Amino acid sequence: MPVTCLVSAKSCGVTTAALALTLACARPSLLAECDPAGGTIRAGLLRAQVNAGYGLHHLAAAERVGPAELAQAFASHLVPLDGQAGHRRALLGLTDPAQAAALARTWPALSDVLHVMAQSADHDVFVDAGRLTLDAGRLHAALTPAPLLHRADLVLLTVQGTEQSLTLARHLLGPLRAELEERGTGAEAFGLLLIETGPYRAHQVTEALGSPVLATLPWDPGPAAYLTAGGHLPRGFARSRLLRHARTAAEQVKVFAARRQMHQRYPPPAHPHLTGLADILDRPAPVRGAARG
Ligand SMILES: Nc1ncnc2c1ncn2[C@@H]1O[C@H](COP(=O)(O)OP(=O)(O)OP(=O)(O)O)[C@@H](O)[C@H]1O
Ligand SMILES: [Mg+2]
Repeated sequence: MPVTCLVSAKSCGVTTAALALTLACARPSLLAECDPAGGTIRAGLLRAQVNAGYGLHHLAAAERVGPAELAQAFASHLVPLDGQAGHRRALLGLTDPAQAAALARTWPALSDVLHVMAQSADHDVFVDAGRLTLDAGRLHAALTPAPLLHRADLVLLTVQGTEQSLTLARHLLGPLRAELEERGTGAEAFGLLLIETGPYRAHQVTEALGSPVLATLPWDPGPAAYLTAGGHLPRGFARSRLLRHARTAAEQVKVFAARRQMHQRYPPPAHPHLTGLADILDRPAPVRGAARG
C-alpha cells in the first residue's frame, strides 16, 4: 500500500482531507500527523480525550536509542480513530511547534517505519505534512518534514479551486518537483489534490498549474466541521459526499502509486530491523489513560 504525503501552500483543508481519506479507506489505514506547526486532531476531532502522553513528540527520544525502539514506540503511540475495530489509527501530532526541531533527525527513521506499515502491514498511510516552507528554493530543513516527502510514494499538494489558492500554490511547484527529482523518488511522485470550492474545475487547475489533479474532494462543510472540531457524529457521516469522494480518492491514490512503483527507478528499500513491526501493529493497542469518544 502507498505512503501518501499531503501538503499545502497555506491552510486549505489538508488535515480534513487526510482524516477523510484515512477514515474512508477500504483497508486498514494510518494517519501520521507530522505538521511541524503542530497537530490539530487531538484538540479537534478527538476533543482532547487523548492526553499528551501520546504522540509524535515522544518518538524523537526513542529514535535516539535505535530503530527497533522507534518501531516499538511508534506502535505504542498509535490511537484508534474509529473507536472500535482499530483499523484506522493515528499518530497524533506535536502539542507545541517548538518540538519540531527535535524531530529533524527522526524523520528518516520514521519514514522507514511508515513504509513498513504500508508494505508489510498493508496499511494505506497518509501523512499530514502541513504547509510547506521554502528556504532558498529548498524545503526548509526544520520547518518541513522533508525526508517524509522525499520517500513518499505520492506527494499531493492540496489546493482549492480559487484564484488565491492557485496563486499561492504556483510558487511551490518548481521547488517541490525539483526537490522530489533530486532528493526524492522522482518528480512523478508529485500531484494535486483539489478541494472543490471556487470557480476552477479539475481540468482548469491541471491546466493552470501544469500538474495533474490526481484526486478531488468536495466542499462539504458539515462533515468537514465534524472532522475539524469533533462532537456528535453527524447523521449519515459515512455516506456523506466528503466520505464517498474520499473513498474514491483513496482508490485513485492506490492505483496511481501502484503504477508508479512498477516504473520506479529503485526498488523500495528493505527494512530487516523492522520486520517485527508488522506483527506488533496487528495486536490491538488500548490507549492508556485516555478515554475515546
Ligand atoms: N472539504 C471541505 N469542505 C468544507 N470545509 C472544509 C473542507 N476541508 C476543510 N474545510 C474547513 O476548512 C478549515 C481548515 O481546514 P483544515 O484544518 O483541514 O486545513 P489545513 O490545511 O489543515 O490548515 P492548517 O494549515 O492550519 O493546518 C476547517 O474549518 C475545515 O472544517
Ligand atoms: Mg492542518
